[in-house]
Amino acid sequence: MKDSLLDKMTRDFEVSVKQMRQIKAAMGKEMDAGLCGGKSSLAMLQAYCDAASGKEKGFYPALDLGGTNFRVMMVKIFGGGRKPKVVAEAKYKLTREQISGAGDVLFGAIAGYLKKFMKENKFTAEYGMGYTFSFPVKLLGIDEGILMRWTKDFSATGVVGKKVVELQRQAMAALGLNNVNVVALANDTVGTLQTQAVVDPNCVMGVILGTGFNICVRVASRRIRKGVGKYHGKCMIINMEAGNFNKALPLTAYDRQLDKESGNRGGQLAEKMISGKYLPQLVRLIVVDLVKKEKLFAGRVPEIFRHKDTFQAFYMDVLESGSEKEVGKLAKQIFGRVLTVEERLVLVLVCHAIARRSARIAAALISGALTRVEKRSKNKVAVAIDGSLFEKYPGYHRMLEEAISEIEGVKGKGISLKLTKDGSGIGAAVIAAVVSKAD
Ligand code: BGC
Repeated sequence: MKDSLLDKMTRDFEVSVKQMRQIKAAMGKEMDAGLCGGKSSLAMLQAYCDAASGKEKGFYPALDLGGTNFRVMMVKIFGGGRKPKVVAEAKYKLTREQISGAGDVLFGAIAGYLKKFMKENKFTAEYGMGYTFSFPVKLLGIDEGILMRWTKDFSATGVVGKKVVELQRQAMAALGLNNVNVVALANDTVGTLQTQAVVDPNCVMGVILGTGFNICVRVASRRIRKGVGKYHGKCMIINMEAGNFNKALPLTAYDRQLDKESGNRGGQLAEKMISGKYLPQLVRLIVVDLVKKEKLFAGRVPEIFRHKDTFQAFYMDVLESGSEKEVGKLAKQIFGRVLTVEERLVLVLVCHAIARRSARIAAALISGALTRVEKRSKNKVAVAIDGSLFEKYPGYHRMLEEAISEIEGVKGKGISLKLTKDGSGIGAAVIAAVVSKAD
């Protein structure tokens, strides 16, 4: 196969240091505009809490909704800066009908799973619960918020523009679930920051690099010009909804096509270049182009690439770094035969170029966000990161770190990236503890 189109693709997906610095600068400006309530691609939503002190204690249940896997957990928070422990946990897979049918069906299903979990584990005391709801929610206070729009292919009807905790409480009451009350509503980035903050006083930023992408930051309350309501703290965490960032991004024809075919055209542009939901879709678009123009796969589009969502992020991991045996097994499963050396090489190059670009854009956005954070000490800044892309994608952590060093011009420059597993769920419980202590 001629390598011209492949060469062009790899070139187009490379993000130079100059481009990363431009993204970083644009990020700072968009943050300032969003904090003033001005025109910005960053919603900069108030989270109505500051980073946890580590002194919080108790047992708190948490709900974690952010993808098709929905989780319920009971978390023990020890105080004394010790890592919280998940004492019971259950995962449920939401059906298509639940995520895209009527809102009542979604909240009813969540209430049903919660009730089952409390009953099976004999949690009969009264509990204040944390609720991680990982979509753009404009909080009205720590325990209520309005859904601005759905992302990540959720589309349950009758929820956008409504108070999500109220809907959840109604569904819980309808099932007679009376010993649990939602006391805190949070985004998964905020939960992740809080989980790390309990053990690490330098943590001032939470990032999700998984199915979706987003960042939250701790900022000084005086800089939030659009108001903080009855909140009295000197600093507040802000859910930036960074996935919607749309300035200085090096969009290619493939990105435009992906966006055009998406359910939220024009929105979440950074997320569409960074997160695990979209990277496999980019692989698909490029491979289809290579099949058509350069006769890859003998000029026939393999079945797995014929539909939008069948090629998964997990396949990219295996193709890029799996053993001979793993790649062979996967190829048989998804292509029905082993790959030729050339086919495999092309797939590796495509996956790598897309994942590397994701890490470099994410690095630029993290560096940009760091310019506006309020530190908790003079020490290093810790960035809490959760999500399968960061945790599992081969080399992702390293590429992210290297790109940050390139942007900052100094290796490490006082920034440490901390994998914060299960941060979104545990963090909701931590916020429930922070709120309960403040009462
Ligand atoms: C949502 C964010 C969320 C992120 C990571 C995005 O699609 O808009 O609220 O934090 O996904 O889950």
